[in-house]
Order: sequence, then structure tokens, then C-alpha cells
Amino acid sequence: MNDFVNQFWNWYVILLVLVSIIACGVLLWTQSSPPAGSKVDTTGHVWDETLEEYNNPLPKWWMWLFYITVIFSLVYAVLYPTLGSFPGLLGWSSSGQWAKEMARFEEQTRPLYANYMKTDVKALAADKEANETGKRLYLTYCMQCHGADARGSKGFPNLADNDWQWGGEPAQIVETISAGRMGVMPPHAQLGAETIKDLAAYVRSLSGLPADSVRVAKGQEAFNSAGCSGCHGPDGKGMHALGAPNLTDKVWLYGSSEATIIETITKGRNNQMPAWKEFQQARLA
Ligand code: HEC
Ligand code: HEC
Repeated sequence: MNDFVNQFWNWYVILLVLVSIIACGVLLWTQSSPPAGSKVDTTGHVWDETLEEYNNPLPKWWMWLFYITVIFSLVYAVLYPTLGSFPGLLGWSSSGQWAKEMARFEEQTRPLYANYMKTDVKALAADKEANETGKRLYLTYCMQCHGADARGSKGFPNLADNDWQWGGEPAQIVETISAGRMGVMPPHAQLGAETIKDLAAYVRSLSGLPADSVRVAKGQEAFNSAGCSGCHGPDGKGMHALGAPNLTDKVWLYGSSEATIIETITKGRNNQMPAWKEFQQARLA
């Protein structure tokens, strides 16, 4: 309303509202009781030869209900923003009410979060209230990807186990959540189908899955010569700094079948955990 470039629309709206309300009042008045003693007209409709419809005025109590609504709307228009850009005598606005409610919410939660910020994450993990708060936030912002039970799914890590791609120390988890993570496993199609099969056999053997022993031996060699060990470590136990998963455990981000591992090695994988830093700052500001 305050964006009108000139006053035309402002007055247009004001007049439209006032004229409509007043017109309702006038209509009611003209439909009220006829002068005393005058004869009641009929509408001219006749049914079954003698049945006529009288044009009686509406009952008084019913008319008064309508007069009251007209008076109510006039009072409302003076108190609340109704007439063009006139803000109303009470100064109420929906955005003002929203801002007030947000400010009240911020005020209530600020000391709570300030207190959390001062407390060590490990101590907070034992705090029932902090856990409840974290759980609510998790169910709102994280569940879509990591699942309601935090057990993840293909490509989305399980957060409920002890296996950490990017590290499970509080500082590492805070970094994961605030800055996000980009897991990049480069494609290795250039190694050729045979070598990739050897590598898959070796990767499977690392976690005790059945694999052809000849291929395992060749795969172990390729694991070092092709540079896999540069990211996953010489023993395949992974590296937190790069987000390279431990290949010797039974936890799989994409799957342990030979076909899935071959696909991972051939095409590579790109995975992203979104960053929440701005969100966090907005809450703490
Ligand atoms: C859009 C999907 C998505 C959302 C939403 C999401 N995540 Fe993630 N998260 C991922 C993906 C994908 C990864 C794995 C990244 C990779 O492979 O490097 C990940 C990784 C993680 C990790 C690292 C796990 C490890 O083993 O090191 C943590 C911790 C985590 N997320 C916590 C959260 C929390 C807490 C939230 C809510 C604030 C959240 N995530 C919201 C997709 C998501
Ligand atoms: C540049 C570092 C890098 C190199 C080199 C690399 N990887 Fe990876 N690898 C990763 C990362 C990071 C991931 C996790 C990808 C993700 O987060 O989606 C991964 C994932 C995998 C997975 C999937 C594990 C699972 O849980 O599903 C397998 C299998 C794998 N790599 C095997 C290999 C093999 C074999 C080689 C050598 C041919 C290799 N990687 C080379 C970084 C690397």
C-alpha cells in the first residue's frame, strides 16, 4: 500500500471501501419497515390460484444484526489498516506482528544457544535438553538425507555407527556440518576393465568378503600403483582429511557387491554434504 507512486490508487481504495459500506447501510435503511399504516404489497407471485407472496419488511432484529456489522466495519476501518495507505489508529501490521513474534522467539532461545556455545560438545552430548533440541533440529533439517533414524541410505552416510568418513571428533563433526563436505572419488576407467576387476576383488577381500585370490594379489599391487593408497591409505583404512572411506570395515556408502565396487572405481563418485554455517549464524546472531 505504501508503494503507490501517486495518491490515485490510495483514494480509489478508500472511496471504494467507504462507498461499499455506506451503500450497504443505505440498502438496509430502504428495506426497513414501511411508514405506519401503509398497506403491505405483494410480490405479484400467485400459486395455486390464491396463494400470494407478501412483500413484508425484514424482521427488526435481523436488520439490526446487519446495522451492527456495518458499524463494526467502520470502526475496524478506523482502527486497522483498511483504507488505502492509512495505517489505522492502532498501528497494527501483519509484518509487524511477525517481527514481534520472531523477536520474542529469538529472545527466548538466545540464552539457551549462548549457553550451548560455551559448553564442550562432549558434555553437551550427555545433556538431555541439548539432545532434545538437537533431535528436533535434526528431524527438521537433516532427516531428508540421513533418514529419520540417522542410518542413512545409499550415498548418504549412516550417522548412527562408529564409522566416520570425515572424522568423528567433535571438531571434525562441527566442521562437517558448518562448512559442508565434498566427497570426490575420481573415475579410474583408464585402468581398463581387467585391472578394475582385480581392484574390486582386492577391495572386497579387505573386509573379508569372498574374492578370487589371484585377482586379489594383482589388485593389491594395482591399489598402490594406481594411487588408490594415496587417498584410502596403504592398508585401505581410509583418510578423514579427504573423506576417503575405510575400505576394511563392513560399512559401505554405495555397496559391497562386485558390480557396485566396479562402478565406483570406473565412474568415480561425487557426493556433497551441504554447508549450514549461515543457518547457524542466523540462529546465533
Ligand atoms: C541434501 C542432503 C543432506 C542433508 C540435508 C544433510 N546431509 Fe549430511 N551428508 C550428506 C551427504 C551426501 C554426506 C556424505 C558426503 C560425502 O560423501 O563426503 C553427508 C555427510 C555428513 C556427515 C559426515 C559423516 C561421516 O561419516 O563423516 C555428517 C556428520 C552429516 N552429514 C551430518 C548432517 C547433519 C547434522 C545434517 C543436518 C543439519 C545433515 N547432515 C544434512 C547429505 C546431506
Ligand atoms: C583422490 C582420492 C581418491 C583416490 C585416488 C581414490 N579414491 Fe576411492 N574414494 C575416495 C573418496 C573421497 C570416496 C568417497 C566418495 C563419496 O564420498 O561419495 C571414495 C570411495 C571409494 C569407494 C566406495 C566405498 C563405499 O563405502 O561404498 C571405493 C570402493 C573406492 N573408493 C575404491 C577406490 C579404489 C579401488 C581406488 C583406486 C583405483 C580409489 N578408490 C582411489 C577418494 C579416492
